[in-house]
Amino acid sequence: MSELPWWKTSVVYQIYPRSFCDTNGDGVGDLAGIRRHLDHLEWLGVDAVWLSPFYRSPMADFGYDISDYCEVDPLFGTLADFDALVEDAHDRGIRIIVDWVPNHTSDQHPWFVASRSGRDNPKRDWYLWRDPAPGGGPPNNWVAAFTGGPAWTYDEATGQYYLHSFLPEQPDLNWANPEVVEAMHDVLRFWLDRGVDGFRVDVVHLIGKDPDLPDDPEEYLPIPHSGLNHRPETHELLRGIRRLLDSYPGDRMMVGEVYLLDTTMVATYYGSGDELHLAFNFPPLYTPWDAERWRSQIEIVSRELDPIGAWPTWVLSNHDNKRHRTRYGGSEARARAAAVLLLGLRGTPFLYAGEELGLEDAVVPTDRVVDPGGRDGCRAPIPWEPAPPHGWAGADPWLPWPPEPGTRNVVSQREDPASILHLYRRLLAARRRSPALREGDLSLIDAPPGVLAWRRVHQSGDERVLIVNFSADRVTMPRTGLSGLVEVASDGSGEGAPFTGEVGPDQALLIDPRASAS
Ligand code: GLC
Repeated sequence: MSELPWWKTSVVYQIYPRSFCDTNGDGVGDLAGIRRHLDHLEWLGVDAVWLSPFYRSPMADFGYDISDYCEVDPLFGTLADFDALVEDAHDRGIRIIVDWVPNHTSDQHPWFVASRSGRDNPKRDWYLWRDPAPGGGPPNNWVAAFTGGPAWTYDEATGQYYLHSFLPEQPDLNWANPEVVEAMHDVLRFWLDRGVDGFRVDVVHLIGKDPDLPDDPEEYLPIPHSGLNHRPETHELLRGIRRLLDSYPGDRMMVGEVYLLDTTMVATYYGSGDELHLAFNFPPLYTPWDAERWRSQIEIVSRELDPIGAWPTWVLSNHDNKRHRTRYGGSEARARAAAVLLLGLRGTPFLYAGEELGLEDAVVPTDRVVDPGGRDGCRAPIPWEPAPPHGWAGADPWLPWPPEPGTRNVVSQREDPASILHLYRRLLAARRRSPALREGDLSLIDAPPGVLAWRRVHQSGDERVLIVNFSADRVTMPRTGLSGLVEVASDGSGEGAPFTGEVGPDQALLIDPRASAS
């Protein structure tokens, strides 16, 4: 069997707890709701779950503003609920990764409350306080994400500004202060001791900062806080965090949200195997449904990561971006082909809850908008059952339902073997069966325009071929001796039959080239 660490061979499923399932009738998903649906995850065949924040929070950024890192917000349940969830997940062989938000706390966190209370407070230097610029105004030109305004807020009482890369309710921690490093390491220890298998590290590229906090160059300003990141300090801090993880038994891992839209930069966060285990690489997520553009992304990833032995990740949807089905124009055929793409590439795939149902973003009327970052649509609640309240506890959920909840729900799709949900399940099962798919090398092969085809080969001799037709035309693959059986087809057609050489519009195929009809 495989000798690779679990995080290389796993499929990870992201849960945004507010939106997964509500069991107590407050309209917000909770930990008990996640526990209730572990059977869905096991049936689907995912190996690990990443939980977005469920910690105590005033919810200015729906949990990414944390006021107590070591407590569950009452909205989501209790620490006992968390322990029960981890235990049940582990019993089913599902690992649990939790979100760790090291760059900033809530402005209600006791650390910040103390820091703000006076210039002489021992925690003053835990955050980034600066005097106004010489002529008055913010200390530099940095722009905050979501608001587009200054990344600095003035504190009348103490006459200084504090830095917040995001909302004013999310002050940035000062990682140059060793006490902050130690306190945040303690947070990791707390969750590691509770048995988590790893962390998704929020905006990790931001933690190291240029001590001079220089102005951002003009060209960076439209991309919030891009000029101040990608600092050597961050790499040093990551090595310290990695040493901490490595001191625990059982292969604990961290996947970093390196929100730098440049794969060459992203690659550096793997260090020499002594920083992040995995890094999100977002340029593919922002790549449109286009064969040539995707070919180039695949080539870039392999060019940048292979030589340094870094293992890629692939993600099409998450809680910060429009769902990919919506981005790709709403066609379910495309969403199906995209599933084959995502699960056929070399690296660790991350699914976002609901993509296995082919969900689209909800249409959120203006009077129901709640997110300052405009991300409500992709955070719509997951429908479990055909009839309202769709398996939720009754109250109107905190966001409107995504389109077609009456059919696009777990119960209806489980009953329908032709559903996209069953496609995801067949793809995950195919990955489990095939070392080539899980860990094999990848090489692109000849394909007509508008089509992407590649081969995955494992040293054991196991092999698979994948073909994704991004175009609206039926195409014929070049006669290169490619034969074998169709193992999975995005539209379900011809599975188990010999590959004919033809691929339909927006169709994708997984082929076992060594199999033959019996
Ligand atoms: C990350 C999270 C996003 C959050 C931000 C600030 O980008 O994914 O949801 O708003 O960091 O924590």
